[in-house]
Amino acid sequence: MRRLPRAALLPLQLVLFVAAGTPGAPVSAPRSLVWGPGLRAGVVLPVRYFYLQAVSPEGHNLTRSPPGQTLFKVVIKSLSPKEIVRIHVPKPLDRNDGTFLMRYRMYETVNEGLKIEVLYGNEHVAQSPYILKGPVYHEYCECPEDDAQAWQRTLSCPTEEPQIAKDFASFPSINLQQMLNEIPKRFGEERGAVVHYTILSNHVYRRPLGKYTDFKMFSDEILLSLARKVLLPDVEFYVNLGDWPLEHRKVNETPGPLPIISWCGSLDSRDIILPTYDITHSTLEALRGVTNDLLSIQGHTGPSWINKTEKAFFRGRDSREERLQLVQLSRENPQLLDAGITGYFFFQEKEKELGKAKLIGFFDFFKYKYQVNVDGTVAAYRYPYLMLGDSLVLKQDSPYYEHFYMALKPWKHYVPIKRNLSDLLEKVEWAKEHDEEAKKIAKEGQLTARDLLQPHRLYCYYYRVLEKYAERQTSKPEIRDGMELVSQPEDSSSVCRCHGRRPLREEL
Ligand SMILES: *[C@@H]1O[C@H](CO)[C@@H](O)[C@H](O)[C@H]1NC(C)=O
Ligand SMILES: *[C@@H]1O[C@H](CO)[C@@H](O)[C@H](O)[C@H]1NC(C)=O
Ligand SMILES: *[C@@H]1O[C@H](CO)[C@@H](O)[C@H](O)[C@H]1NC(C)=O
Repeated sequence: MRRLPRAALLPLQLVLFVAAGTPGAPVSAPRSLVWGPGLRAGVVLPVRYFYLQAVSPEGHNLTRSPPGQTLFKVVIKSLSPKEIVRIHVPKPLDRNDGTFLMRYRMYETVNEGLKIEVLYGNEHVAQSPYILKGPVYHEYCECPEDDAQAWQRTLSCPTEEPQIAKDFASFPSINLQQMLNEIPKRFGEERGAVVHYTILSNHVYRRPLGKYTDFKMFSDEILLSLARKVLLPDVEFYVNLGDWPLEHRKVNETPGPLPIISWCGSLDSRDIILPTYDITHSTLEALRGVTNDLLSIQGHTGPSWINKTEKAFFRGRDSREERLQLVQLSRENPQLLDAGITGYFFFQEKEKELGKAKLIGFFDFFKYKYQVNVDGTVAAYRYPYLMLGDSLVLKQDSPYYEHFYMALKPWKHYVPIKRNLSDLLEKVEWAKEHDEEAKKIAKEGQLTARDLLQPHRLYCYYYRVLEKYAERQTSKPEIRDGMELVSQPEDSSSVCRCHGRRPLREEL
C-alpha cells in the first residue's frame, strides 16, 4: 500500500479530531446527564421513559434546546440477537429548557435484556449504552411481583402521600358488611354510577350498582394493569365513576361516612380520591390512541416565554357559569384575555349571545403566556396538563381537587383567582407588569408538576390507596352475588414467562 506523505496526513487527522470531539458544539455528549425509571428493567410501565439533560463542554447545564434539529436519539435493541422484539421509540421530546424526555413502548417481553443507546450524533451520551438485564416485561405481560414493598422500592415510590393520609384519617377502620348493606341503597339507584369491586388472589371481580357505569372501563383497565405488575392485597371497595364526590356525611355523625373511592374530591365530602380517569387512561394508552398525555404534553409547550402572546387564554365547554363570564370579560378586555366556549350543552340559550369559538388543539394553548383554569362540573381535568406547560396558570379558587393538588401552592406554583373571577383582570395585569416573577412561578409550577405527575407515580398512588384501604378492613373481602371476573386482556401475540417468580395459583 502506498504510504501517504506526512503533510497529507495532518489535515486528515485534524478532520477526524474535529468530527470526534466536535469542539464548538453546544453539547458535550459524555458530560450530559441521563436518568429515569425507563433505565430500570423492573419498572414495568405502558410507556417507559427517562430524561436527558444536555450539558455544555464546559460543564454547564443547557437551559435552552441546542439550535436546529436535535441530534439526540435513542436506539433500543434486544440484548440477544436471537430475540426479536417490537419496540416503538419515538423521537425524543424536546422540553425546550435543555432537557429531553425519551419514551419507548415495548410490544413484547425480552428475556435476555435490552440495550439502550443514547446518542448525540454518533457519540454515546453519558453512560450509554445502558444495559437492562432481563427479563424486561412489556405492559401486557402478567408477571406480578409478589413482594409489594420491593416493587414500590423499584419504582422509588414516595414514602408519604399527604392526600392519602388525609383521606384515610376519616376511616380508621372499614366495615365491609356495613358498606355492603348501605352503599347499594344509598348510591345504587337508577342514576347511580357506582361499581363494587373485590380483588381476591390478584383477580379482579366487580358488579355495577347503577345504570351509569360505562366508565368502569377506566377503573378496570388500571386495576388489571396494576395486577399484572404487583400482587395486590385482597380488598373490597366501591368506585364512584360519576363526576361529583358522593359521601357528604361528617366524621362525627351517626351513621358515619363511608369510604367511597372517587376521581375528584371536594372540601365538603369524604371520598377517597384516586388520580382521575383522564390522566390514568392517557398514561395507559400513551403512544397508542391518545396524543395528549402527561409526557407528550411536555414536548409541546409552544414558543419560549418571551415569544408567547401576553394574554390569558381559555377554551372549553360551557360546563360552569364562570366560563361564560370569561367570554364576556374577554369581549370587554380583548387586550388581556382571549376566552371562548367551544361547545354548548348546559347553557344552550347563551350560544347566540356569546358565540361559539373554533376548537383549537391543546398544544396551541401554550402560545399564550397565561392560562385560565376554571372548574367544569367539578375540577377541570386539564389542570395537570396546564401545569406541565410553561405558561403561568391562573387558577380559580375551588372546593374541588385532584390527587396532587395538595403539593401545589398559590403564588409559588400558580396564581390564584377568586371563584367569581372578580380579580382575574387585575391578576393578568399584575403578571404583565411583573414578568420575571410570573415566569418564575410558571417555572416552579412546571417543575413541581413534572415531578408529581410522572406516570410511575400514578401506579404508586393507586397501589398505596389499595394498601391503606386493605389494612383497615375489619373482615375478609368476598366475591359477592352478581360479581363477575374482569379478565386480563388476551395477549396471544406475545408470550411471556415469569422468571424466578412463583405462579400465583397452583395450576391444577
Ligand atoms: C444540572 O441538571 C441536573 C438535571 O436536571 C440537575 O440535577 C443539576 O442540579 C443541574 N446542575 C446545576 C449546576 O444546575
Ligand atoms: C423568538 O422568536 C424569534 C422570531 O421567530 C426567534 O428568532 C427567537 O429565537 C425566539 N426566541 C426564543 C427565546 O425562542
Ligand atoms: C366576589 O367574591 C368575593 C369574595 O371572594 C366578594 O368579596 C366579591 O364581592 C364578589 N364579587 C362579585 C362581583 O360578586
